[in-house]
Amino acid sequence: MLGFGGVGRALAAQMCALGRRSRLRLCAIVDRSGYVFVPAGLGPREVARLVNAKAAGQSLGSLGTAATPDVALDFIAAHAAQAPVLADVTADETGLLLARAAARGRFDLVLANKKPLAGPQRAVDTLLAAVAAAGRTLRCEATVGAGLPVIASLDGLIASGDRVRSIDGCASGTLAFVLGALESGRALSDAVREARERGWTEPDPRDDLSGRDAARKALILARKLGYRGAPPRAEDLVPRSMRGLSVAAFLQALPRLDGAFRARAEQAARRGRVLRYVIHASPRAASARLAEVPKDSPLGHLRGTDNLFAFRTRHYPDAPLVIQGPGAGPARTAAAVLTDLQALPAR
Ligand SMILES: NC(=O)c1ccc[n+]([C@@H]2O[C@H](COP(=O)([O-])OP(=O)(O)OC[C@H]3O[C@@H](n4cnc5c(N)ncnc54)[C@H](OP(=O)(O)O)[C@@H]3O)[C@@H](O)[C@H]2O)c1
Repeated sequence: MLGFGGVGRALAAQMCALGRRSRLRLCAIVDRSGYVFVPAGLGPREVARLVNAKAAGQSLGSLGTAATPDVALDFIAAHAAQAPVLADVTADETGLLLARAAARGRFDLVLANKKPLAGPQRAVDTLLAAVAAAGRTLRCEATVGAGLPVIASLDGLIASGDRVRSIDGCASGTLAFVLGALESGRALSDAVREARERGWTEPDPRDDLSGRDAARKALILARKLGYRGAPPRAEDLVPRSMRGLSVAAFLQALPRLDGAFRARAEQAARRGRVLRYVIHASPRAASARLAEVPKDSPLGHLRGTDNLFAFRTRHYPDAPLVIQGPGAGPARTAAAVLTDLQALPAR
């Protein structure tokens, strides 16, 4: 497991709870400081100890062996199990690391991390080519819609010969929650703080507020539809003056934006509309932007961290196929990773 944050720790706990009902074994956990590696598999007591220690602020380097992620992976690959799988639950640019793990270590890959699939096209091509050349599999259900079966549904439609023309909707649980909170009169800074405390935001909440995270999801979906154009430029809700701050300084400065967002939400409300951060994906385009939508519409009715994905396809041309539900949360995201892990071909 690469990464041992909110999602990684939830995943470790869920794997332990499955116990002997699963053929998976959790053998190694890696963070930025080092790794813990037990080739025979970590037992539930050891996992619980590591989860608690990491949640309390200790690093894996201090709990196990200090090493960079590259060195850790090389070591683990050299002593790896029969059918190694790497679950990327970081939020980092791990594309090269993953390509190497597939090529040299013959790891299957399961990603909650969007960045390796949402970078420059050439980097994504390199990663997918490395996976294919090694005869391995890459699965990425948790990258879009957290635990919702968005990728599985899309893959199913494509595999059955349907032609997906476009996917529209709201793909950020965090922005859905924050914009919904504005609608009910809460301050932006207050809503962001709550979303962060609940583990719904990216490690740096500006990744959500900038629209970058939503744009990555739009790009991942569009690429599945054959799009090979430039990554979309998302509409950034964070003013330029606050983009260079540290995370802590940014959170402290956030109340400065409350007034402008309140005004924007009130302006929309006077027109019977609400603010939503919407994405679009098609074979020819990918986009992510803040939009006013009618209050009385499927997007206007979204609540909490709900995501919505409307698929227009040859078989669903007018009334779209819709997937809707909570689109954030470490436990749900971990469950989607676990579903992918269980679905890997037996080696
Ligand atoms: N939370 C959600 O609701 C949600 C929903 C859908 C998808 N996701 C995705 O799931 C991923 C994890 O989210 P999270 O909330 O668990 O993040 P998080 O709590 O910040 O945890 C990230 C973990 O990754 C580790 N890490 C970062 N770069 C690394 C590297 N190069 N090599 C090894 N480890 C590295 C960090 O190490 P240190 O501990 O040493 O810093 C940390 O343990 C993200 O990509 C996110 O977009 C999250």
